Amino acid sequence: MCGIVGYVGGRDALDIVVEALRRMEYRGYDSAGVAILDGQGHTAIEKKAGRLENLDKQIATVGRDSLAGSTGMGHTRWATHGQPTDRNAHPHVSLDGKIAVVHNGIIENYAPLRAELEAEGVEFASDTDTETAVHLISREYTQGATAGDFVASAYAALRRLDGAFTLVFTHSDHPDTIVAARRSTPLVVGVGDGEMFVASDVTAFIEHTRDAVELGHDEVVVITADSYTVTDFDQEPREGKPFHIDWDLAAAEKGGHDFFMLKEIAEQPAALADTMLGHLEDGRIVLDEQRLTDDDLRDVDKVFVVACGTAYHAGLLAKYAIEHWTRLPVEVELASEFRYRDPVLDRSTLVVAISQSGETADTLEAVRHAKDQKARVLAICNTNGAQIPRESDAVLYTHAGPEIGVASTKCFLAQIAAAYMVGLALAQARGTKYADEVAREFAAMESMTEAVREVLDTMEPVRELARSLAHHNTVLFIGRHVGYPVALEGALKLKELAYMHAEGFAAGELKHGPIALIEDGLPVIIVMPSPAGRALLHSKMVSNIREIQARGARTIVISEADDVAAQTVADHFIPIPSTPTLLQPLVSTVPLQVFAATVAQTRGYDVDKPRNLAKSVTVE
Ligand code: M6R
Repeated sequence: MCGIVGYVGGRDALDIVVEALRRMEYRGYDSAGVAILDGQGHTAIEKKAGRLENLDKQIATVGRDSLAGSTGMGHTRWATHGQPTDRNAHPHVSLDGKIAVVHNGIIENYAPLRAELEAEGVEFASDTDTETAVHLISREYTQGATAGDFVASAYAALRRLDGAFTLVFTHSDHPDTIVAARRSTPLVVGVGDGEMFVASDVTAFIEHTRDAVELGHDEVVVITADSYTVTDFDQEPREGKPFHIDWDLAAAEKGGHDFFMLKEIAEQPAALADTMLGHLEDGRIVLDEQRLTDDDLRDVDKVFVVACGTAYHAGLLAKYAIEHWTRLPVEVELASEFRYRDPVLDRSTLVVAISQSGETADTLEAVRHAKDQKARVLAICNTNGAQIPRESDAVLYTHAGPEIGVASTKCFLAQIAAAYMVGLALAQARGTKYADEVAREFAAMESMTEAVREVLDTMEPVRELARSLAHHNTVLFIGRHVGYPVALEGALKLKELAYMHAEGFAAGELKHGPIALIEDGLPVIIVMPSPAGRALLHSKMVSNIREIQARGARTIVISEADDVAAQTVADHFIPIPSTPTLLQPLVSTVPLQVFAATVAQTRGYDVDKPRNLAKSVTVE
């Protein structure tokens, strides 16, 4: 949700900033803009509504010479306040054009601040909340105790701001310095050789350095080409946490695929393997940053899983595994609903927060609410040092590598594996499973890497089918047991990528209403339970299929390759390998991802950047 980057060094800032925006465009693509400082008292701004390619064209038109300089910053926007227009594109500048700002998040008290500034005669050039920040600094810089001191003016302005935001400021007369601040939303420093970066995400500078510094909540960093200084908003020293990025530029590129999403679908076996790697030691499950003891885990009497979107679907699956393995009650809740209904939480409640980005505002607020109520929080996250893991009591990282396609794919599979490992960790601490049973479950999970690879190798018929159905207006998805969250996930993928009406249902619910939607030729995708593992459910599902077939539905059935009963009721049959019941979603999801991506491609849509969406959602 908005990508921001700042650079101070010895090289051409424009190239570095634009390339960083290209890598971060998945965070938002309503507009893009750059500010480049020429080192002689002037800041050149170019910005344009729409995708980065519009800015590229504009830069080509004005000429690169007008954007020469070795300090700069850039922004790619997901609009919150104000339409996605040129006027509202970032950077925003002070009235004298000297101070520039880019921003991610929301300045919640912008309205009274704007009124205060307007009363002093400031004329705003945009409808954004962001612009208040730059005029506040400008006022500080021109009057009072902070006059003429850019850094002190930035601190003074920052102290006036409420909300969740990352801000980066430059000043034409101080071209060697960038000030950046974060309150909740992400900001990371990249430490190069004689150059320094600040960005929303390490992908912005991975090409130049893999040494980074994680910043905490309410921290400010002042960078020059050779130094970075971290403080709180009151200028008290804080220690940033240095870390080395354990993946490289290749991981942030398409690697021969047309879209990141297609590459990420193909990477799922590795994402699964890497997520499980090293988590079984001497027959025991180990988490990453386990700030919860086995005694804490034994005290747990109830589990809540909170998450959004695809991560929520991983949470729904976690319920089946954790309840089965631990006999603990598990509730799964959309993070955006959780804290507003006053859930019953106490010290014995374990809240599992699942988030690929680790910065989703709804999930972060759910974590904070849980902690306020004294619950223990365990985060499952794909982003090292993000805010959700920082504020949690324990962390299990999914090692899926960077996920750049806006639609989550490999992280979903990694989240399922991680959530299941949490279930096994609870089972081992509470003694509901012996060590050899834990090891057996873990080995079964490890074997899924191969099963997913097998599915990926047989996707051509799914692509053909998707192309033939791309003209439909609606597709329904049904499943039972662990197939139900998979159906929800399949529908979400199709909605967000192909802008097609798609709904997922528990198959048993159809006859309670949704069956009224069935009409001649309507495609229905069915995720079958295992014929051996869930024989009773399987036979009920066959009956459900007959019911919709009798009403004209075109049935597309995903089931184990030797499921003869399913094949007899399938207009199209998609085979998957036979797996233990709880692990079936790891293979049954894959055809649904491929199906949605292919429908979207056939309709001519950009599957990496679906309309109206952004990769990480840092506003509630
Ligand atoms: O970063 P998170 O896992 O917290 O994100 C949660 C959802 O916003 C995310 O899964 C979203 O639903 C995806 N676009 C789904 O493909």
